[in-house]
Amino acid sequence: MQKIILALPKGRIYEELAPRLGALGIVPEKDFFDPQSRKLRFSTKRADLDIIRVRPFDVATFVACGGAHLGVVGSDVIKEFSYSDLYAPVDLGIGRCRLALAAPQDTDAMTLLARSSHIRVATKYPHITQHFFAAKGIQAQCVHLNGAMEIAPALNLAPFIVDLVSSGDTLRANGLVEVETLLEVSARLIVARTALKTAPSILNPLIEAFRLEQKNT
Ligand code: PRP
Repeated sequence: MQKIILALPKGRIYEELAPRLGALGIVPEKDFFDPQSRKLRFSTKRADLDIIRVRPFDVATFVACGGAHLGVVGSDVIKEFSYSDLYAPVDLGIGRCRLALAAPQDTDAMTLLARSSHIRVATKYPHITQHFFAAKGIQAQCVHLNGAMEIAPALNLAPFIVDLVSSGDTLRANGLVEVETLLEVSARLIVARTALKTAPSILNPLIEAFRLEQKNT
């Protein structure tokens, strides 16, 4: 039997996702919940489906490259990678946050932006950021960080950051304010178009089940 592989992101999203997955019979084996476990692939109560747990930024790549049939990932990651083979049929309506441009609260951000033709920005979203600034006629030089973006302006890495904002606590705690929203973000179910062509009878019912589950919440 061909097993379906579902790629889930490590981190907070699982708590919100668990009831939806549970309703579809997708309940991971014990090791999944054991912080000591180094396993990356887990069986579930469904004999036809395994879960892999990977970094949020890698979910889209695992699915687009054929390593997983389906995945759950933020719309920020989908947009950053823009894989042509990815299809995102269901907005799961969870993991809501926004991708925002932020700067130190004592910066006159609007004046700085109006006067600049080049600007340094600390982010892990170089494509979205460059595209956003290009539309303003500004060339963004991205300082690529994987985390702790909020400390970058105080340490003179860049006058701006582009990062996810949820409660706004991290920005406030580091003396930053939001300047503009680039993207409203929520978690999406993603599928590779190639996988959909090769295994439609397995994947279509699962996509429909996620869609129905979403409608009923
Ligand atoms: C994310 C994001 C911000 C923070 C925003 O980081 O990169 O730093 O959450 O949330 P808030 O507005 O509620 O403070 P996360 O904690 O997921 O860790 P990461 O830096 O490792 O991505």
